Amino acid sequence: MTIFTRRDFVTSAVAAGFALAGRPRLTDSRLADSRLDVLVNEPIGTIAPEIYGHFVEHLGGVVYDGVWVGEKSRVPNLGGIRRALVEALRAIHPAVVRWPGGCFADSYDWRDGIGPRERRPRRTNFWIDDPHLQALGGNVAAKYDPNEFGTNEFTRFCRLVGAEPYLAVNVRTLPARSFMEWVEYCNSPAASTTLAEQRAAGGDREPFGVRYWGIGNESWGCGGNFTPEEYAAEFRRFGTWAVPAYGVKLAFVGSGPNGGDLEWTRRAFRELAERRSLDRLWGWALHHYCSASNGEAVAFDDTAWYDLLGSANRMESLITSHWQVMGESDRERRVKLVVDEWGAWHKMTTNVDPTHLFGQQSTIRDALVAGLTLDTFNRHADKVAMANIAQLVNCIQSLFLTHEDQFLLTPTYHVFAMYAAHQGARAVRLVASAPAVSWTNGQQQERSLWGLNGSASVKGDVLTLTVTNPHLTEPREAEIAVRGATVRSATATTLAARDVHDHNTFEAPRTVVPTAAQAVAVGSAPLVYHFPAASVTKLEIAVGS
Ligand code: AHR
Repeated sequence: MTIFTRRDFVTSAVAAGFALAGRPRLTDSRLADSRLDVLVNEPIGTIAPEIYGHFVEHLGGVVYDGVWVGEKSRVPNLGGIRRALVEALRAIHPAVVRWPGGCFADSYDWRDGIGPRERRPRRTNFWIDDPHLQALGGNVAAKYDPNEFGTNEFTRFCRLVGAEPYLAVNVRTLPARSFMEWVEYCNSPAASTTLAEQRAAGGDREPFGVRYWGIGNESWGCGGNFTPEEYAAEFRRFGTWAVPAYGVKLAFVGSGPNGGDLEWTRRAFRELAERRSLDRLWGWALHHYCSASNGEAVAFDDTAWYDLLGSANRMESLITSHWQVMGESDRERRVKLVVDEWGAWHKMTTNVDPTHLFGQQSTIRDALVAGLTLDTFNRHADKVAMANIAQLVNCIQSLFLTHEDQFLLTPTYHVFAMYAAHQGARAVRLVASAPAVSWTNGQQQERSLWGLNGSASVKGDVLTLTVTNPHLTEPREAEIAVRGATVRSATATTLAARDVHDHNTFEAPRTVVPTAAQAVAVGSAPLVYHFPAASVTKLEIAVGS
């Protein structure tokens, strides 16, 4: 494989510059091979905190062994919910959590998960026939669902971590009436209806006030194999007229496209617009999983490093292309994008327990996927209203890995912690110029990727600049100019690894962790910052006018 960088850096004078005297740094801006221009006076929009959202599905080890350990467990818990997970998640301000699926949602009856836990039915899990679970033989837990974790438990989990619940509705196997009653169970005022009393019997007298409702999931696939027109008809039945608001500003999310399927978006939007139902749609769900040539989570080669980052970077064009098509019917731009499943999906060779379906380890490569994807959402703050990484724990690109009483934070968790400062901030334009990275992919095709990219936002007098350097071996020296503000002070936090295959294990959970924030001195010379190879960096910059 050839990896080389193109020296296509454009030199131009820096209008306003500053120098960081922290480590690592260069003092001579002539050595810079890249530049980052932060345009403080070019706002994009407010970064919805919900972009930093999560996803919990009844799949493998996500709920059972991940979130829910049960009240009688020796694992420290808060009413059955894993305490360590609650504490770590709360610390990164998760704005929203999606549940109960995924594909599982279109086979789930919410009524199975209410009432006394010991009397709840045990059901066959949607994922029972997955070959990985079949290979395990027997009645392994992940094949069946005990329904111990239902609506009351999930909303309690959301309250504990400070997140809004986002419920995915079963469109494939339940009627619209069941959805309406789920809304009533969740949101009708205390003691107002039989369902409100049942909610109270489950421990929650007061309504949950659930705002976000996903009408189906992947309705082009596991959610029913609908055509876009058929799905639009289902959306109309589920999402229009019949649903009482109970004083909540309900936000319905439609089941959007599989990756780049623009026709799904075009035809569904056209149909909804023609039937005057587009105004019931708040968000349009887009799913994109990235993957790489050999599929390995840890034992990847250089080609697979770049293939994965290139595949993740497709998020940029997915957002802009679907947004453009949505605008053909939604002229007033009422509907926003909701990327409610995204992440790096590898082969199942590194899961921490065999029952953790789609469980995988996470390296600095996955951290770069998280960083560049969150940066993409930030740069499109005017279009993306919510995003949910798949999935929270023990599945695909997780923030946490757990098994019984063992628990760890993955490099992806650390990226979410570093990027939390962007939530609710005003995204501003960032212009990045750096030597592009080119490589030959697994199919012997020439590919290239930008050499540095990121996002910038301002909240009060703090400018947050996050940057990823995708080059496996080359650091980037970037001259950074903040236009439209004066820099007062700065700190830098970096996530990198000694070896890009390093990952956190239960035995060595701090193998890949960020540096502590380093104060960096600000001077009069232009800032030149050293972005290590294969890294994610956050610069937190105090600014004034
Ligand atoms: O996240 C795992 C699965 O991927 C989800 O259940 C489904 O929506 C998607 O195909």
